[in-house]
Amino acid sequence: MNPLKMYIVFLTMACVGLFIPRQINGEVFTALADMEELLETEAYLIGNLEAYIATQEQKLKFLKRRAIDYQKEHNEAESDVSAYLSNPINAYLLTKRLTSDWKSIESVMAYDVGSEYLGNITVYRQFLKFPSDEDLNGAAVALMRLQDTYNLDTSSIAKGELNGVQYSTEMTANDCFEMGRQSYLNKDYYHTALWMREAMDRLTSDTNHTTSTSKADILEYLAFSVYKQGNVVSALRMTNQLLELLPDHERAMGNKVFYEKHLKEEEVIKADKKLKGDDGSDELEAENFYLKPYSNPHIYSTPERRLYEQLCRNEIRLSLAELSKLKCKYVTNNSHFLKIAPLKLEEAHLKPYIVIYHDVMHDEEIEFVKQVARPRFKRATVQNHKTGELEVAHYRISKSAWLKDEEHKYVADISQRVEDMTGLTTETAEELQVVNYGIGGHYEPHFDFARREETNAFTSLGTGNRIATVLFYMSDVEQGGATVFPLLNLSLWPKKGTAAFWYNLHASGEGDYLTRHAACPVLMGQKWVSNKWLHERNQEFLRPCELLPDHAEM
Ligand SMILES: *[C@@H]1O[C@H](CO)[C@@H](O)[C@H](O)[C@H]1NC(C)=O
Ligand SMILES: *[C@@H]1O[C@H](CO)[C@@H](O)[C@H](O)[C@H]1NC(C)=O
Ligand SMILES: *[C@@H]1O[C@H](CO)[C@@H](O)[C@H](O)[C@H]1NC(C)=O
Ligand SMILES: *[C@@H]1O[C@H](CO)[C@@H](O)[C@H](O)[C@H]1NC(C)=O
Repeated sequence: MNPLKMYIVFLTMACVGLFIPRQINGEVFTALADMEELLETEAYLIGNLEAYIATQEQKLKFLKRRAIDYQKEHNEAESDVSAYLSNPINAYLLTKRLTSDWKSIESVMAYDVGSEYLGNITVYRQFLKFPSDEDLNGAAVALMRLQDTYNLDTSSIAKGELNGVQYSTEMTANDCFEMGRQSYLNKDYYHTALWMREAMDRLTSDTNHTTSTSKADILEYLAFSVYKQGNVVSALRMTNQLLELLPDHERAMGNKVFYEKHLKEEEVIKADKKLKGDDGSDELEAENFYLKPYSNPHIYSTPERRLYEQLCRNEIRLSLAELSKLKCKYVTNNSHFLKIAPLKLEEAHLKPYIVIYHDVMHDEEIEFVKQVARPRFKRATVQNHKTGELEVAHYRISKSAWLKDEEHKYVADISQRVEDMTGLTTETAEELQVVNYGIGGHYEPHFDFARREETNAFTSLGTGNRIATVLFYMSDVEQGGATVFPLLNLSLWPKKGTAAFWYNLHASGEGDYLTRHAACPVLMGQKWVSNKWLHERNQEFLRPCELLPDHAEM
């Protein structure tokens, strides 16, 4: 699935004016299955539009034929008025044309072909899935999240290029304008300015004027967003440009006065300072204030965020010294099953110990798990550590479902394999959680274990804390979607059929804070994973407690 295409599907529907306000869900865009339904909706709409055009054309064809007939008759009359009108038949026909004939023409002209087809759309709304305004906003935000995380420049995205790979869809000036408008609605003036500039560039190069967006519209948003970013000089310049195009634009006139007043006040302050014998350093600051580059307030807001994004982009890796200590090996580990089919283990990190097992879920199992999970998908939730309640959160966008061992042999087989891989029991484990990350789906840095202050977490389960995590990758991801550990400089790239395993707790039962990890947003394609979270209870003899918080190594 291509994020640009998805956004444009939403946008097309928005432009046709088909959005209906629904409950705020903002989750349509998280899964591919939902997007498929939207394509079906679009097929209906296109069919309806074509039928409308055909009917409208029939109507125009009829009127055109009449016009030609009348014109012909009229020309004849004009060529010799008295001869024409002295013919009693002609006199009758002219009178008829201007009475009953014109009445029928008028009624055809007045006949509103559109209302029937608009009625069709009302019907569609009852049985087809339509995205809401929130969905459009969500799709735009998802695209901007990808832009920030993967450092993509606006014009490349608009050209349909993601991370150097050319995908087919190109965005129009109006597509970009809408990206800007959505950012504006979210009060995100940084992205408003980026996308409005792009819209302006596209409009200037679009010599065919195929778009409904006007230069004045763009200038208005652009001026306000650069003002909000502190650049009053540019805001004023753009407003003046806007007034050149539309001298009567009332809001622009008001804004012009406002910006000028703002600038004058700044000048007074500056002059005041000079009088007081300032050394001019503040002046420099004020100058910078106006020339402040457009900075993204969201990006790099914390050192962790910076690391997280760099890891998602594969810009940071383990040092060679660390890499050289890692091994690959076959493990049999006293299991009868494994003696026949040993597991392929690849060490990903030593302290804490994180391993990748290769070929631990085969395609048939993967297809089965996806198929069973799909109809049960819900927007993934996180536990509120204060109340212990599950709730949706903007920092975890994905769909998930839970599968029980008893449901099918395959699910039980997977649990058995988890035991073989970890040497732990799955008796106290949670059910298999299946997760689908669509475009922009992600999970920001988090711990899998409950921290001390999270007193309500897992208490209802009565199985202790999450001692370990097994994360199965059930798809390859075309671009993005890594699992990253910001404190370790480690990125794990999804590969279908592999699984990652690590302990969340030290042998002493203390949480291992270095296991903090995140799921990077999916840039292209989609990501399927499943989790098996193992709990402390009943592991006493399998992983004996120790007093020191020893890192587990196997
Ligand atoms: C749409 O409306 C037209 C005119 O009323 C009707 O002929 C047509 O069957 C409708 N199409 C659908 C798919 O409902
Ligand atoms: C503009 O229109 C012409 C003729 O209709 C077409 O050949 C050309 O490709 C169009 N250019 C763009 C940028 O769409
Ligand atoms: C092997 O089995 C032992 C004991 O059953 C367990 O402690 C260890 O973690 C297992 N290791 C692997 C790699 O499965
Ligand atoms: C991770 O990489 C950054 C940048 O290369 C480096 O400054 C930092 O020390 C590394 N951290 C670890 C834990 O290796």
